[in-house]
Amino acid sequence: MKTIEPCVLVIFGASGNLSRHKLIPALFRLEVARRLPEKMTILGCSLELWSKDEWITEVSNMLESKFSDGVDEQAFERFRARLHYHPNPPGDGDAYLKLRNVLAENPDFSPNIVFYMAVRPSEFPAIIDRLGVMGLLKQQNGWCRVVIEKPFGYDLLSAQTLQKSLYRHLNEPQIYRIDHYLGKGTVQNVIVFRFANILLEPLWNNHYIDHVQITHSETLGIDRRADYYEGAGALRDMIQSHLMQLLALVAMEPPVTLSAEHLRDEKVKVLKAIRPITQNSVHAHAFRGQYTSGTINGKPVQGYLDEPGVAPDSITETYAALKLFIDNWRWAGVPFYLRTGKRMAENSSAICIRFKKPPQDLLRHTHRESPHPNWIMLGIQPNDSLKMEIQVKVPGLDLTTRTISLDATYHKGSEEDYDAYEGLLLDVMQGDHSLFLRIDEVEWAWRAVDPIIKVWAMERDFINGYQAGSWGPRGTYRLFDSDDQFWRHSLDPEGADLQAY
Ligand code: BG6
Repeated sequence: MKTIEPCVLVIFGASGNLSRHKLIPALFRLEVARRLPEKMTILGCSLELWSKDEWITEVSNMLESKFSDGVDEQAFERFRARLHYHPNPPGDGDAYLKLRNVLAENPDFSPNIVFYMAVRPSEFPAIIDRLGVMGLLKQQNGWCRVVIEKPFGYDLLSAQTLQKSLYRHLNEPQIYRIDHYLGKGTVQNVIVFRFANILLEPLWNNHYIDHVQITHSETLGIDRRADYYEGAGALRDMIQSHLMQLLALVAMEPPVTLSAEHLRDEKVKVLKAIRPITQNSVHAHAFRGQYTSGTINGKPVQGYLDEPGVAPDSITETYAALKLFIDNWRWAGVPFYLRTGKRMAENSSAICIRFKKPPQDLLRHTHRESPHPNWIMLGIQPNDSLKMEIQVKVPGLDLTTRTISLDATYHKGSEEDYDAYEGLLLDVMQGDHSLFLRIDEVEWAWRAVDPIIKVWAMERDFINGYQAGSWGPRGTYRLFDSDDQFWRHSLDPEGADLQAY
């Protein structure tokens, strides 16, 4: 465990969704685990004209609504001593000057600073610029790091423009482009699973793998985030960032070491090898949809167009599915299917890898149904899991086969389960970039999806609907390369055939 120097974490957007649901709870869990450095302070910055006490009450409310089992009182006493607040109301031209004075004069604040941009992406450049003009990004007496939330830009060009604006005041080692998916335990386990075990390496290529599916489905809708989501959509919100990162981890070559640069070099090679989708081939490679009203967990829910803040003629996609090919020696010809959706049947994120069928079906007279190929599945959420499906003989006098699942779920009940942000916040404080994105990764991921974004932006007349609570729009099957490929909705063997659409 590395020691962490004292620092002040300044959260812009402290009263917003991200801070409320992810950052403050993650910091509190680090407090409970006694992993925050002793002299670390948290300075909330937001539009509200709150006093420090009002901010502490607000934080206490955030924690109470997050931890329904109760908030550890002793930990909260320690936590509240770290909390400070700085109002940053619109139109206050002196807010940044005041911030500089507060940071310089209050002896509680360490000269090491992390600025966390938990605000709308359109606000990143202006905030960085003001901090830069005030000299707050210079590393004179201590270090200064800036965490930028996704999406980094809304296409390749805007990502490059944003990057230029950051480089006016920051150098690369100061920038932490966060993709919270990389903080998830099972996502990191992809690296361990692949590179700490030799067993699978000979099979991990186009000779044995038929295709790979990467899914993130949610039952939640857009949850009052229309102002952001209307301009983003599922492709930018989940696929360009989180799911492309999963694809890179599954497909990359073993890095020389696990250092940040070596790891990111290998991920970039995969992203560079993605076969470009031309505008003419967008329909063969991508499918989008938008949820209509339906039922989730037995309760009726409204359609996307009825969500507050959504334009009545919006064609923003809440579901997106892609087929990508990685044109390199290992993966030539293997389709990677990526899909994500809001208001889907279940909350589930998983990587499912389907192997090819044996070259000769010696047991063809013994199957009750069509033969099942092998699958390896890494469940990311709701449960970390690792499953492998194989064929066995059914006990009895006849030679018949069935599928069983070897469940190598490795999470023990007593082991502490953290959300992604805890580890990533510690990494920033420790100066470890391994799980953060380098600018070339972001650019190559945009290059892969830009043609789709362009075509979808032009086709404004129609978008496929899907009922809330279903597995997405009918018609996405057309992305599959062969008749025996289908979306895998469940990680259980009996669910393997739920192919619907
Ligand atoms: C965020 C997206 O990055 O990831 C959200 O903006 C999405 O739309 C979320 O709901 C999913 O992450 P998690 O960790 O809640 O599964």
